[in-house]
Amino acid sequence: MRNFSRAVLLCCAALGTLLAGPERGTAQEFADHRYTSEAIEAGSRIYVADCALCHGRGGGDVDGVDIRRGVFRTVSSDEDLRRIITTGVDRGRMPAFDLQPFELDGVVAYIRAGFDPNGVAVKVGDAARGQAIFQGAGDCASCHRVNGQGPLTAPDLSEIGAIRNPAALQRTLLDPSAALLPINRPIRAVTRSGETIRGRRLNEDTYSVQLIDSEERLRSLVKADLVEYEVSETPIMEPTTLSADQVADVIGYLLSLRGLP
Ligand code: HEC
Ligand code: HEC
Repeated sequence: MRNFSRAVLLCCAALGTLLAGPERGTAQEFADHRYTSEAIEAGSRIYVADCALCHGRGGGDVDGVDIRRGVFRTVSSDEDLRRIITTGVDRGRMPAFDLQPFELDGVVAYIRAGFDPNGVAVKVGDAARGQAIFQGAGDCASCHRVNGQGPLTAPDLSEIGAIRNPAALQRTLLDPSAALLPINRPIRAVTRSGETIRGRRLNEDTYSVQLIDSEERLRSLVKADLVEYEVSETPIMEPTTLSADQVADVIGYLLSLRGLP
């Protein structure tokens, strides 16, 4: 059983890394930094005052750049961001900004943390409170596994803080259907022998599909042996009913999950 869980864990971790896709650079960078809510809030004021004029409150008004989603042209690290902001771009199409160091930190924190569709910075709350909510009122632990504890039916969240930024986590909690990764989709299959299998897809190719079934078993099904195979667009996870402050605390906790040392 131990080896089996470990295989699943490794498999999920590898998939997560693959699937993080374009957000990966951002997340990778983000993983090296801890941004405080104060810095993010200070940064949001500067963003609205100095940047939103061109980039828009939603961050997507300049072609090829979507600040909210971390899509840039040349920027990949925090250092690149600082350089672009202090030197400007493209012979004045974006002016150079002369910011105090703490202001510059704030804008970088704000951009890295991301913001919601109304341009409001995503709030990152207290990790310890968030952990209590995760295990208690939020009921997250009844589906999710963290550091070897909990079921396998939902994605293992042991490293989620290293691969998702606060905006992505907030999206998942408030609107799981908008955040559902294709690979995590729930599936239903019926075999030739009449067995119905429900579970969460881990991997799929032309001939086979790997999943965790509702009994938490890792299964590999050969498609030629199936008489029915359905992939659902509807996430298993429901939008959270936690308060905004509780969501912020849960996000704080999720960001602290960076895999076992
Ligand atoms: C006068 C308009 C204007 C303002 C104000 C402005 N920008 Fe820009 N910004 C642009 C344009 C235009 C580009 C695209 C430049 C190019 O063609 O590569 C850009 C690009 C960027 C990029 C992506 C650069 C890359 O190469 O990946 C970042 C990040 C950025 N801006 C952040 C900011 C921040 C932060 C502020 C506020 C401190 C700001 N911008 C203010 C116009 C502006
Ligand atoms: C009923 C089971 C269930 C509960 C309860 C639940 N989740 Fe989920 N969660 C899932 C499943 C399944 C997925 C995969 C996508 C889907 O099908 O919704 C998921 C996806 C996620 C993801 C996205 C993972 C990624 O790779 O981006 C995060 C983060 C997450 N859940 C956090 C939470 C938190 C925090 C709570 C508690 C507030 C919670 N979940 C409660 C089942 C659950």
